[in-house]
Amino acid sequence: MPEIILDDLRKEFDGVVAADGLSLTIGDGEYVCILGPTGAGKTTCMRMVCGLTKPDSGRVLMDGRDVTDDSVDSRNATMLSQTYALFPHLNVYDNVMFAPRIKEWPEDSSKQIVRSMLHMVHLEQKAEWKPGELSGGQQQRIALARALASGSKVLLLDEPLRALDARLRINLRKELRSMAKEMGLTCIHVTHDQDEALEMADKIAVIRKGRIIQFGTPREVFEDPATPFVANFVGRSNVIVGRVVESTPEGTIVETQSGMRFPARPSDLAAGDEAVLTVKVGFTKITRMQEGQPSAVCVGTIERILYEGVTVTVEIAVEGVGLLSAKLPNRKYEEYSPGDSVGVYWMPDKASVFPMPPEGIEDEMRLD
Ligand SMILES: Nc1ncnc2c1ncn2[C@@H]1O[C@H](COP(=O)(O)OP(=O)(O)OP(=O)(O)O)[C@@H](O)[C@H]1O
Ligand SMILES: [Mg+2]
Repeated sequence: MPEIILDDLRKEFDGVVAADGLSLTIGDGEYVCILGPTGAGKTTCMRMVCGLTKPDSGRVLMDGRDVTDDSVDSRNATMLSQTYALFPHLNVYDNVMFAPRIKEWPEDSSKQIVRSMLHMVHLEQKAEWKPGELSGGQQQRIALARALASGSKVLLLDEPLRALDARLRINLRKELRSMAKEMGLTCIHVTHDQDEALEMADKIAVIRKGRIIQFGTPREVFEDPATPFVANFVGRSNVIVGRVVESTPEGTIVETQSGMRFPARPSDLAAGDEAVLTVKVGFTKITRMQEGQPSAVCVGTIERILYEGVTVTVEIAVEGVGLLSAKLPNRKYEEYSPGDSVGVYWMPDKASVFPMPPEGIEDEMRLD
């Protein structure tokens, strides 16, 4: 039986629709990441799950029971809010020990739990400190430890790794996920960080304008996006607008207004349909143009090369199309320079095609 069902939730704040027919089913013990731009309704969604916000309509079911009208306390769900509130007068240890004490768990196992949580967030040495003596990131980790030690079966984490530096953030991803799995928790984890979601989630829910627009495994969401927006939000994509000129079981060909043709995977679209082709920047490649090069799909001029450490991103101006980007391994850095003429290509199976969204492409691709 699924643990949490959000069924057609709607919530409006003074004319602002924060949830617009939001539905989501989360399995027992699943780790789900909610990914979406700012203002998309992520926090509102979490608050409705734990009972802090009451939906205008729709239902929340937990373990098959309708809890829509139940109080926060009766739901067995703990939310780590975006503004983690620690008890300022209690030291770190007692903050984390808060729920075990209230719930009167046996002293020995409580101590054990609190210790392992503090260990997980690397703050055992700060057990005696007060929250006010800690940095923002340390406080956030304490709040996370406290949420994990709450004894709730369902954990709602709103940007739990936000204030941490990049290295710690990456380490904690693994530890948080394995801790949640070990404890058999069901987690909903809100993040802005697509890498975090891809790495941590069993499933990712992409939310936009109060609706879930895709719910799938990280691989599905990354490689088979449901909309052009998802294609560009979860791993940046090149976006090409045109018309389908060929659609067969082998693939789709999209032609731009300027007459350039680009290959993509098979689709339901028919010849003549207006279409949007997307291909991940990381799946886009470039090559030196040579006589009879069959693989390049278009030719352009390198405008910029951005050094990123392990990778470099090359921006190529293509006449009639605009700027396309390609991510290359670092060893290619010396090989190309701005001004070079290069062929751009990709494996057709790596490119998706979508019907033109009714609101037009600009509205679809907006990131807010
Ligand atoms: N209590 C409230 N009163 C009025 N408007 C609200 C309230 N809570 C949320 N909203 C509005 O609802 C929309 C969704 O807000 P929400 O906080 O759920 O977004 P979010 O996805 O969590 O964004 P962020 O990534 O910035 O945290 C926003 O337009 C916001 O202004
Ligand atoms: Mg929020």
